[in-house]
Amino acid sequence: MQLARFPRVRLGSFPTPLEELGRLRGCLGGPRMFIKRDDLGGLALGGNKLRKLEYALAEALEEKATVVITSGAVQSNHVRLTLAACNRLGLKCEVVLRGDRPNTPSGNLLVDGILGPAKVHFVEGAGLTREELLRRTEAQVAEVAADLRTRGERPYVVPNGCAPIHGALGYAWCVFEIVDQMRQWGITPDAIVTAYGTGSTYLGLLLGSLLFTGGAVRVIGMSVSASRAACEARLRQNFPEVARQLDLGHLALPQEVEVFDAYVGPGYAVPTPQMKEAVVLLARTEGILLDPVYTGKAMAGLLDLVKRGFFRSEENVVFLHTGGIPALFADTQAPEFHTELAF
Ligand SMILES: Cc1ncc(COP(=O)(O)O)c(C=O)c1O
Repeated sequence: MQLARFPRVRLGSFPTPLEELGRLRGCLGGPRMFIKRDDLGGLALGGNKLRKLEYALAEALEEKATVVITSGAVQSNHVRLTLAACNRLGLKCEVVLRGDRPNTPSGNLLVDGILGPAKVHFVEGAGLTREELLRRTEAQVAEVAADLRTRGERPYVVPNGCAPIHGALGYAWCVFEIVDQMRQWGITPDAIVTAYGTGSTYLGLLLGSLLFTGGAVRVIGMSVSASRAACEARLRQNFPEVARQLDLGHLALPQEVEVFDAYVGPGYAVPTPQMKEAVVLLARTEGILLDPVYTGKAMAGLLDLVKRGFFRSEENVVFLHTGGIPALFADTQAPEFHTELAF
């Protein structure tokens, strides 16, 4: 198996639980729905980055890195989990955060502080477009790496969201896990629904569907920022390259890529009424918390598709919980929920 030859370090508690959303279905009708709990991955409040980091940091160890550098938004889940994973492996980690340094850290940034990065570099964003800010952040990462090299360190850079190959490896195996868990219940998945950010989780799920189910499982992405066209363009660029790296060049991206951009709202991390409704509904029917930036919007998309009769009632639909919970407690997001408080 081409996937098994890649080095991997154990970071998460896998397999993560797969649970049925019976009470949610009781409210909505529609297909049988399940939730794959990658938010319970085992390190620092969990999330989808753990599966990817198992491959990224195995590569860092193989390359004998002495320090890891990574970057992300101030409220990045990726940065939090990279810090936690580095601690677990005894690696130093420097982080470059895009956005202004808040007076009082909350959410992910608070957790980052507790995890204790070797150094934090802020790239202040005032007056910059998102693209400019991303460019400056990348430049800062390169500068930090160069500086560390002059001081005799061997830096390893984990790109924000991890490299597509590492996401693909982690999430192809996740499909294997889901199929195996459902087999024990005598059923098979028909669709997996996930939030779509950088798209490497989606790419991995698609690859896993092709490898382990011959493409029988539909993979449905709910964009949290980019347009459908931009998400598809990125996949068409990354998929052949990842397939080539895995010696799976014969695999082709399906003609139709199922990514929706209708649930983004005004922009990345900007709350929407549908997101709030989804977060509150899951909490009050199933006792499961979603996050406001990724899984809340992805669930809003799933709920809308179910209400519109997109799935047949005999289908089994799996929602991938990719984590992100600390953002619920970020001072940029928490006040959004004040109107929902039942006291
Ligand atoms: C909680 C959460 N869910 C989903 C995603 C999206 O994953 P991907 O970037 O692989 O599309 C992210 C990425 O940052 C995330 O933090």
